[in-house]
Amino acid sequence: MGAQVHGTQSFDDKKRAEIKFNDAAMATVQKIISRYPEGKQKSALLPVLHVAQAEFGGWLSAEVMDYVASILKIKPIEVFEVASFYTMYNLKPVGKCVIEVCQTSSCWLCGAEDIVKHIEKKLNIKVGETSRDGMFTLKVAECLGSCGTAPMMQIGASFHENLTYDKVDSILDKYKSDGRQRNYTDLDFNNTL
Ligand code: FES
Repeated sequence: MGAQVHGTQSFDDKKRAEIKFNDAAMATVQKIISRYPEGKQKSALLPVLHVAQAEFGGWLSAEVMDYVASILKIKPIEVFEVASFYTMYNLKPVGKCVIEVCQTSSCWLCGAEDIVKHIEKKLNIKVGETSRDGMFTLKVAECLGSCGTAPMMQIGASFHENLTYDKVDSILDKYKSDGRQRNYTDLDFNNTL
């Protein structure tokens, strides 16, 4: 029988049994874990969650968090506590591209609010929603460390800076025509961890 960890949600054991990293992702996970001393696998949790999010559709279901817990030999609740704390982890389904528009000081002064409104109008969604075609989810973020090139937004591992309406249109059109899911791990993961 499946355990109950996250509120009243029951786990679907069949669904959970289908959750498994492919060989390449598991090799990355094992490499991450090997960087920490035996018994300290929990230290690998953040980067392993990024791999899991990228591998399982851009978000972390309860079943995926359980799977990560089993690999790291920690309790499912420990995974949930971390995943629910950081805004980079999505706990519900998202579009293939998550747009994060910085709304902190420099970006706000340089028109971030108008950029958000422009995207909302273009995609016919509000902040926190996903476009009907499943391509984009719109979020706002606190300072993303690119204040000198405000206003800016992040999509997956890419920063898009000095935004104008035209630039936003062209960027989103390119992502849409490309059609791929974008992840924080799209950088060369082996070189960046
Ligand atoms: S204020 Fe937007 S990147 Fe820092």
